[in-house]
Amino acid sequence: MCGIVGYVGKQKAVTILLEGLKRLEYRGYDSAGVAVLQNNHIDVAKKVGRVENLVKEVARHQLTGTTGIAHTRWATHGGVTDANAHPHVSSDGKFALIHNGVIENFASMKRFLLSKGYTFSSETDTEALVNLIAYHYQKEPQAGDKSRFLESVRRALMHVEGTYGIAVVCSDAPGEIVAARKASPLILGVGEEEYIIASDVSALISRTQNVVYLKDGELVHVTPKRFTIITQAEEDVSPIVNRVTWTVDATELGSYSHFMEKEIFEQPAALENTMRGRFSADGSTAQFGGLNLSPVEFRQLDRFAFCGCGTAWHACLVAEHLIERFARVPVEVDYSSEFRYRNTPLSGNTLFFMVSQSGETIDTLGALREAKRKGYKVMAINNSVGSSIAREADGGIYQHVGPEIGVASTKAFTSQLMVGAMIALYIARMRDMSFADGVQYVKALKGVPDLVRKVLEQAPHIRNVAKRFARYNDMLFLGRLSLFPIALEGALKLKEISYIHAEGYPAAEMKHGPIALISEKCPTVFFAPQCEIFNKLVSSIQEIKARRGPTIVVTTEGCEIPAGLADEVITIPDCHEAVLPIVATVPVQLLSYYIAVERGCDVDKPRNLAKSVTVE
Ligand code: F6R
Repeated sequence: MCGIVGYVGKQKAVTILLEGLKRLEYRGYDSAGVAVLQNNHIDVAKKVGRVENLVKEVARHQLTGTTGIAHTRWATHGGVTDANAHPHVSSDGKFALIHNGVIENFASMKRFLLSKGYTFSSETDTEALVNLIAYHYQKEPQAGDKSRFLESVRRALMHVEGTYGIAVVCSDAPGEIVAARKASPLILGVGEEEYIIASDVSALISRTQNVVYLKDGELVHVTPKRFTIITQAEEDVSPIVNRVTWTVDATELGSYSHFMEKEIFEQPAALENTMRGRFSADGSTAQFGGLNLSPVEFRQLDRFAFCGCGTAWHACLVAEHLIERFARVPVEVDYSSEFRYRNTPLSGNTLFFMVSQSGETIDTLGALREAKRKGYKVMAINNSVGSSIAREADGGIYQHVGPEIGVASTKAFTSQLMVGAMIALYIARMRDMSFADGVQYVKALKGVPDLVRKVLEQAPHIRNVAKRFARYNDMLFLGRLSLFPIALEGALKLKEISYIHAEGYPAAEMKHGPIALISEKCPTVFFAPQCEIFNKLVSSIQEIKARRGPTIVVTTEGCEIPAGLADEVITIPDCHEAVLPIVATVPVQLLSYYIAVERGCDVDKPRNLAKSVTVE
């Protein structure tokens, strides 16, 4: 949420900043702006709308300097206007600042600054901070042997309540940037005679694979020759430079029209990466290198708790189903945002899993901290190496699916389902699951990439179904047991990228309310795989048909849907119960994608949304 990028080096900053912004645009796309230091002066260009608009605006400015900062915004405080776009400049013109996060006490800060003669030209919380930095710069002209620039940022931040990832330039300090973070992600790329500050790796991967992940409460001071990191309490930090394993190709569209499409089709490979090296030598269970818990400690756990938001929460629900079904151990699932304030009673032997693709979702980070505060061990299921959640957890399982850029999560979700299925197996094999059943289970997991490939082969058929159904404005998604969360996921995918009102329910709940929606105008996507309760599923479809509701039935190969019940059928391969949710997800991802394309929607940048929700 909001993308920030800063550059210090020998190249023309604006070119690198705009490239970085394009790669960060999925984090926010209300407006964008850039500030470049040249001749002891800060030049700013900003524009409402996409980075494309900023590129045109920049062409009207002479931005030749080699130090600068840039921002793509997802609005919190203040409407979407040029004035509210970042960077914000202090009223004395000395500082420009970009910010991701929320400054909760900005109103009192602003009152104080107004009383001191500072002026404001936007409605944002950020402008209060840049003026507070200017205030400290004026108030404490002597910083001794410290950098006066760094010191004024550090002092200003001591007064901030809220969250921030910031980068600041100062007209008195050419070739320098000060950046800092608290709960909003920030990394430093260490290149050849250049440094890049960014919200995430995608913005700097084309220039360097060497990165330092800043921690909460740290400030970095970048000069043309070196960088230093200190804490808010002025302690020196010895930086650890990490090597990012993926390359710039992973962030390019290639022959695909959208990142969402690319990421749907990447799923077979992504799932292989999630599984790689994670099965025992005898092929009967899963193994995880990063749990930091011995099998004996793990065996003593008598309850598991999962937290996540949105799509990740749906993955938690599937994990709950599989762990309870195969391992017979109780599982609690909570929205991260609810868990952190709800004061849930839990037993002592509970292990937490925080599920988050980005590893930066503020609600999940808050839930993690709350669970740890209560003394629980917390594991992360996470895709972004070095993320806040990964770092603060006691251990975890990386998903290894590469960068997910489409705002609607696809490959990260099926990979989370895979991790959940593997955890269920791991726990089950410590309890009552036999060796032979374990071997069958492992075989089923290893076969998933091929099953997903088979579903992807049906893309042309699903595209035709999408063409037929794209005109509707309401849709229901119904499924039972492990496919109820997939019904929720199907509905979420459809509504977020096509703006069709969609709801997911457990199929049998339909008659307790949602059935009132059924008519010729409200189609239902119904999951009806071969299973013990197949006849009950068929009865529910019959109830829909009796009310003239159009239906798309997702069923397994060899399963007979009685004549007249399905207006469209999408068939998935028959498969093990543990992998059914993964295989059944793919058709609804494709369906939502093609419906959104059919309706002319901006699939990768749906309105009001942004990836990586770093504000509460
Ligand atoms: C929906 C979607 C969101 C995210 C949610 C959590 O397609 O992407 O619902 O799943 O914001 O994000 P992470 O997994 O990064 O914590």
